[in-house]
Amino acid sequence: MDEKLESAKKILKKYNQEHLLTFYDELPDAKKEILLEQILNTNFDLIQTLFNSTKISEQTDLSTVEPIPYVDKFKLSNEELSEYTKIGTDIIKQNKFAVLTMAGGQGTRLGHKGPKGSFTLELDSNKSIFEILCNNLKSAQKKYGVTIPWYLMTSNENNTATIKFFEDNNYFDYPKEAFTFFIQGELPMLDTDGNIILNENGLLKLASDGHGGIFEAMFKNNVLKDMQSKNIEWIFISGVDNILAKLVDPSFIGICIKNGSLAGGKSVVKSGPEEKVGVFCKKLGKPSVIEYTEISKEMCNMRDSNDELMYGESHIICNLFNIKAIENISKNSLPYHSAFKKANYMNGHKELVVAEEPNSYKFEAFIFDAFSRLDNMTIYRVKREEEFAPVKNAKGVDSPETAKNLYLNYTKKDV
Ligand code: UD1
Repeated sequence: MDEKLESAKKILKKYNQEHLLTFYDELPDAKKEILLEQILNTNFDLIQTLFNSTKISEQTDLSTVEPIPYVDKFKLSNEELSEYTKIGTDIIKQNKFAVLTMAGGQGTRLGHKGPKGSFTLELDSNKSIFEILCNNLKSAQKKYGVTIPWYLMTSNENNTATIKFFEDNNYFDYPKEAFTFFIQGELPMLDTDGNIILNENGLLKLASDGHGGIFEAMFKNNVLKDMQSKNIEWIFISGVDNILAKLVDPSFIGICIKNGSLAGGKSVVKSGPEEKVGVFCKKLGKPSVIEYTEISKEMCNMRDSNDELMYGESHIICNLFNIKAIENISKNSLPYHSAFKKANYMNGHKELVVAEEPNSYKFEAFIFDAFSRLDNMTIYRVKREEEFAPVKNAKGVDSPETAKNLYLNYTKKDV
């Protein structure tokens, strides 16, 4: 441990982060070891670059973007739709398809303690989000006669609780062997002077590195290898919070294959300029998404000759990737975006700083930044009322109430 301590001290001196050892002497041996590992595993050059990036505005430069072409599912002919469906169905039946759910988030905005997927909605009966999602796989099992593997990306914060939730619910009677859980990466949080902050337990305060960390996490946790060994070719990746997400959609797979795209993204028409969704576009000629926090008012309001929003193809985090695309993307990390958040922490004088307002930076990569590494991508416009019922906020827009209504309207229609 002495050698590790000496190396840690050297690194911290070089990067002016010596306060990270403030509590070292008081920690029990096991925690001392964790703290040293945290320090030795931190990429301080990256941290410095990230801190510098907080001073640069992330507003998108209008001259670099243009609308992206899309295919409207409901304007396809019956022949086209059945051709795409057949192509996708074959892939599913040949066990070349898997589903991955990004479930690293907590239900904080919902006021729910625990993994977001364990949040329960009062539908026809009480169902957790995980159960609703799992029902997609159970129906597909019946329809196609195969068990589709389900990968779930969790976070350090919720991995144990997520696995316990599935155990307690007997994996909703879907085969346990079909499940793989893996944990996403983390990055230290910084104060406004660029110092890494400490938790009340004397260790570094780390936060999830965003869903864009998924590709590196798949590589590091051997998820990619596992998929390769199972000959999986196509992976549908979505967030945990959309209870109408169609996890298994053969026409989506089929249209991507037919178009020769290694990835596809589903879109719905943006409900209005103010809706808090990212929108698909082309940036410097490559597929991209401009996040709602980074789009200007001017761009939000631009309309085309049909009076439709020019940037109106909402990204609903329902994306499909060929494994070859993931192999390429996972070779290099995606860029990080900074968010200014509230965080309580211990300062270098052993005082607890209680956040009354945002006081610290968190860094997150976004999965859609991977799109620019693809030459082409199929944007597949689907109907909002059939495929998008997000559960994000406790009340109002995108709340359990709105999601429940959308879900019940759709499932009633479906019967
Ligand atoms: C997100 C999208 C936005 C999209 C909208 C649609 C981002 C940054 N923006 O906004 O483009 O139009 O949803 O509803 O995603 N997650 C992880 N690990 C993380 C962070 C998030 O697994 O580190 C998962 C969450 O569990 C959730 C999903 O990713 O399922 C979306 O993340 P969230 O932060 O809730 O994004 P939104 O702001 O709602």
